[in-house]
Amino acid sequence: PFAEDDLGTHERIVHAHDERSGLRAIIAIHSTLLGPALGGTRFYPYPDAGSALTDVLRLSRGMTLKAAVSGLDLGGGKAVILGDPRRAKTATLLEAYGRLVESLGGTYITAGDVGTTSDDMDVIGRTTRHVVARTAAAGGSGDSAPMTALGVFEAMRAAAGRTWGAPTLDGRTVGVEGLGKVGRHLVALLVEDGARVLAADVDPQACADVSRDVPEVTIVDRVVDAELDVYAPCAMGATVSATTVPGLTARIVCGAANNQLATPQVEDELSARGVLWVPDFVANSGGLIQVAGERTASTADDVRSRVLAVHGTVDGILALAAEHGETPGRAAVRVAQARLDDARTRAGGG
Ligand code: NAI
Repeated sequence: PFAEDDLGTHERIVHAHDERSGLRAIIAIHSTLLGPALGGTRFYPYPDAGSALTDVLRLSRGMTLKAAVSGLDLGGGKAVILGDPRRAKTATLLEAYGRLVESLGGTYITAGDVGTTSDDMDVIGRTTRHVVARTAAAGGSGDSAPMTALGVFEAMRAAAGRTWGAPTLDGRTVGVEGLGKVGRHLVALLVEDGARVLAADVDPQACADVSRDVPEVTIVDRVVDAELDVYAPCAMGATVSATTVPGLTARIVCGAANNQLATPQVEDELSARGVLWVPDFVANSGGLIQVAGERTASTADDVRSRVLAVHGTVDGILALAAEHGETPGRAAVRVAQARLDDARTRAGGG
């Protein structure tokens, strides 16, 4: 259902099972047209191998779009480790995973994602050179979540500018779903900007941490169907669906989660209801921009200004969408596609 554009098929999909450590992983390299395929490792208790494969295929394709639309010289890839990180994550397993990444010869570069941290990247880095987002102590740029949150915030401000005439969330009600590594930074930026923030997380500890750090936030059971101006999905994907869209009161959907739309057609339903969707792979590009900076030895200031530029990227895509009478998702895919086509032509692939 996601093949409505011409992004092509995946270049390589590697399934791995290491008996000794119990590692079960899939690495999907979607494209190396613009550079090595960079994307995080998700450690998640998938119900079955099929759902893990579906997830990694969609996520890796999203990374191709994200790098292309952000102007980065990187391709798209992603990895999943099957299992519950709270129980299955051991140094032996992560080292085995590092050897798997190393065996791909740098065509895939890994980083953190849901269920993995910078500390884990340090362990993975014992057995592979092809890892970013390690801790600062280990020479990496550390957790990418603060920069991801900053990019989402700028994307939201750009959407607010288009919707209400001023690029601010001041006085708006924003619902943040998921108070993990990204969500907890995003709520602080929103409160600082004057927004009223409703937030939810299935983990009571995550809610308690946010209530302690940002007491202005109101914790609720569910945000998607609350009375909102902006809905910010920052947990898992596919929360914007034929089931949730009819109950959505927000005028803008903009968040950190990857693959927010259950199907591409959902964007047409949003658009018919006058809801502006900021494509997830643009809104959440701040983390990728940060780790890409490790490869070009960029300073923290350079990285920050590139992340602030997500505002302009989103504004440009929304302008293009308005001009062509198309949805922001299609406009963003077209921008990414143009860059990929150009690279393909240069590479002589026609
Ligand atoms: P995380 O794992 O730290 O946080 C996710 C949070 O969502 C957890 O606290 C979890 O309890 C909560 N959650 C899960 N299901 C929920 C539900 N149904 N309702 C409410 N809360 C729920 O992950 P992180 O790093 O904060 O990432 C969040 C999203 O942003 C993910 O989809 C991730 O792929 C995406 N993302 C993250 C980036 C990063 O730099 N960390 C970069 C780009 C995208």
